[in-house]
Amino acid sequence: LYDNENKEEPMDLTRMLEKCRRDQWHVNDLDWSVKPRPMTEHEERSVVQYFTDMASIELLAGALFEEQAKRTDDLTLRAIFETFVVDEQRHSEAARRLARHYDVHHYQSYRTNPSLVAFKPHFANAIQYLSAEVANYYIVAGELILDVALLRSLNDYVADEMSQAAMNLINRDESRHIAMDFYMAEHYANEARAGRLERGRVPPTVQAKALWAIGNVLYYGRPFFDEVFFGPMRLVDPSGKRLREAYKRIQLLHDHEGIAERPFVRFMTTLRRLYDHPSTRRWLGPVAVRLAGVDTSVMGTVYTRDDLERSRRMSFEELAEDAVGVKYAS
Ligand SMILES: [Fe+2]
Ligand SMILES: [Fe+2]
Repeated sequence: LYDNENKEEPMDLTRMLEKCRRDQWHVNDLDWSVKPRPMTEHEERSVVQYFTDMASIELLAGALFEEQAKRTDDLTLRAIFETFVVDEQRHSEAARRLARHYDVHHYQSYRTNPSLVAFKPHFANAIQYLSAEVANYYIVAGELILDVALLRSLNDYVADEMSQAAMNLINRDESRHIAMDFYMAEHYANEARAGRLERGRVPPTVQAKALWAIGNVLYYGRPFFDEVFFGPMRLVDPSGKRLREAYKRIQLLHDHEGIAERPFVRFMTTLRRLYDHPSTRRWLGPVAVRLAGVDTSVMGTVYTRDDLERSRRMSFEELAEDAVGVKYAS
């Protein structure tokens, strides 16, 4: 996708769609007959539980792309998003199979984390009220945090060839997703600048429903994120390296030219800056953390001045490429 000679050329969506179709694969393409490495009881229980939860998380990602597909009038874009829905469903299936594969001793029966189950309907309800642009910011963050950082760290923790084989194929899909996520961020920013993003007046009843839906997402999002993401990450990413990397990419995107002025991004950046300043952190820190739904370790700015200068010279495609590179870096 990035092998076009002129980096300034916008993404060729027709080529992207071809790539999406060409790179489809099936869970049965993998050889599931290999034996899992020996694991301690604690490892096996953790790994099977995490893959069980991952199967649900992948479907959340699929739901977001389904919504993106519905929102666009561009047939090529819609077709691309539709392949992403299929990708995420396949990742879910792969995670389910991995859970079964590592469930060697059947120490217990495994069920999806209850906070994740509670969060899901509110999330599905809320996404219909988000603008396509804001939904895309949630997709960028969700993919970098869950589809990349969590999955990648989990794979390291499992340290087994079966998981690695699945991950190689999943990562190939994710690099297409992230390229599109960044592309769409730029696309909406351009549309806004050209005055094409203006929305009609929203009736008060719809506004009230939207507020209710988003309030529920914030309320149920916190335990979901703590139990399904930050908790497991403490075990599979003990140094917090991947966690910080993922947030760094999000923050750098939010501070990129053209993006930084967008209202939703400004809101998120304001929360971060409140947290960066010791005086406002004292008073408003807990509110900011609650609204951003973020662990305190990544609530403030995590990039350096050098990171920012480097990223500001990069195009959105290069930013996406860079974020994907992080995923493959060991
Ligand atoms: Fe995925
Ligand atoms: Fe994805």
